[in-house]
Parts: sequence; structure tokens; C-alpha cells
Amino acid sequence: MEERIISSEAGQEDLSFETSLRPTNLKQYIGQDQVKENLTVFIEAAKLRSETLDHVLLYGPPGLGKTTLAVIIANEMGVSIRTTSGPAIERPGDLAAILTALEPGDVLFIDEIHRLPRAIEEVLYPAMEDFCLDIVIGKGVEARSVRLDLPPFTLVGATTRAGSLSAPLRDRFGVHARLEYYTNDQLQEIVIRTAEVLQTEITPGAAAEIARRSRGTPRIANRLLKRVRDFAQVLGNGEIEEEMAQKSLEQLQVDRLGLDHIDHKLLRGMIEKFRGGPVGLEAIAASIGEEALTIEDVYEPYLLQIGFLQRTPRGRLVTHLAYQHLGLEVPGV
Ligand code: ADE
Repeated sequence: MEERIISSEAGQEDLSFETSLRPTNLKQYIGQDQVKENLTVFIEAAKLRSETLDHVLLYGPPGLGKTTLAVIIANEMGVSIRTTSGPAIERPGDLAAILTALEPGDVLFIDEIHRLPRAIEEVLYPAMEDFCLDIVIGKGVEARSVRLDLPPFTLVGATTRAGSLSAPLRDRFGVHARLEYYTNDQLQEIVIRTAEVLQTEITPGAAAEIARRSRGTPRIANRLLKRVRDFAQVLGNGEIEEEMAQKSLEQLQVDRLGLDHIDHKLLRGMIEKFRGGPVGLEAIAASIGEEALTIEDVYEPYLLQIGFLQRTPRGRLVTHLAYQHLGLEVPGV
């Protein structure tokens, strides 16, 4: 897969550095007002009753702050957080080891929880509901089930596709929070906050320019900010002004709406090879050499959000807005 400056994948690079950029409590967290207001109440209520917070399911497109919120929930509750992910838990024993090592009240964060194998989901049910584990000891007629008590804990699950979660698992979360794309104003505020953390001077206009090209996604905004800062440091005096931001973003091939060469390849591919659709996801993926799942989870949600793509029962369709943005003649007009 090609490298992508506006990727909203977390990746492996400088995670500790990323972590230090993140807000650590709800007051510092910009945007997602509804989610924030509700969580504030649920956390306060749990604390007043000296209980653990009910299990929380966070869902929405990548890069919108699900991991950050999980860390904030633990901080606000005054407990530790253990982090793992659906694909990392391969056997029931892996999950049992994690659960039995928790301290009372801890947050267990499972990222990509939709990728948890079904057999392991079943271990989670009694753990979530009654804070216990049912373990089978022995084999055949000798086999018997033993109940093991667990410390009370809060499971925070994150997923980009809530629809892929089994209904029994989804129903065991007491709090469902859907994260939305951020507005340009919120992203501008985030860029200004991150620049402060990075001790970089930035004008409001430059922050707005980065915000406009960040596809509603803080992770992208912060990554673009760091790249623009590189240009400002090497080609300018280190201060980020609007013109420097614009030039740098053009150099990075991030267009006015935040679309990059892969979005362009996707849209142009659909237009040139399939006359704009409707066309099936698999056919698009094969024609541009990207994985269907990656297109569906990473590239497509924003293109749908800004109305450049439509999903129809017969496949994906490029809209007139996209033709106009690409400077192409709109068909049949
Ligand atoms: N950095 C990344 N996401 C953020 C958010 N939602 N608020 C503040 N800073 C952030």
C-alpha cells in the first residue's frame, strides 16, 4: 500500500510522543460535546456511588479520538488502564490472563473489538456481566466448569464498525458513544493546542488552513501540523503562517478539501474505468490495487460524508460534486 500523509491509521511511529500531545482529561478534550457531556455525568455518578463505570463502547471512523477517550475515562475515574486489541487476543487463555491481572476498578481497553474471535467473546460475557470467569477443567466426562471471581472493571471497547459486533456483545455495553467528524473550528482549536504543546508559533489563519485539509480528523490535523512545522523550520523562520501552511500542504499533495493522491486515484479510477459507477467495492479495490476493507474503513467514510460518493444497492457512485472538484465535466449535464 502507498504511504499516505493523511492516513488516519495510528501506525507505529513515535507513539510516546503522540501520547504526550493528547489531552488527558475531559476539560482539555475538544469536540464530541454530546459524548463528553454524557460521559461527565456517568463518571460523576459512578464516583458518587463508589462503583465502577459501566462498560463503554466507542465507535466511529479512525483517528477521531477513541483511544484518547479511553485513557481520559481511566484518568477521570482515577484508575489504571490496560490496553489490548481484538486481533492480539488469540485464545481464551490470553483474555483470562489479562482479566485476572486487573486491579479493582481498572479500565480494560480493547481496540478493534469487532476483530475478537467468537470463542473469546463468550469468555467476555460473564466477565462483563457478573465479573467472573467460567473455566473448564479436565476433558471428556471428567470435565467440569469452575467459576473464578474477577475484580470489578470497566471494559472500554473501540471499533470502526459497530455493525460487525455481535448483538450479545454490543448489548452488554451500558454506554454507547458514537464519535463524529470534527468541525473545522474544532480542528483549528486542536491544531492551536497541539502547536502550543510542541512550542511552535502558529497564526490562526495557518491553523484554519491545516484544519480545513484534515478531513474532520484530529489525528490527521496533528500529523499535518508536524509536517508543516518541518517546512516552516527548514524553509522559513520556524513560525507557521498561512502562506507557509498552504505551500507546505500543496507540496504534500493534500488538496483544498484534504483529499490526497489516493482519494484522487479512487475517484478517478471509478470515473475512468467504471464511468462513475455504480460499481462494487471489490471491483474498485482490484482496479486501484488497494484492499476493499481499507477502502471501506479508511478512505470511503469521509468521501461519503462530504457527498463525493454515494452508496446505492447496486454499488458505489461518484457524485457531480466530485466531478466538479476534480475539474472534470459532469456527465449528462
Ligand atoms: N488532540 C487530538 N484530539 C484532540 C481533541 N479531541 N482535543 C484536544 N486535543 C486533541
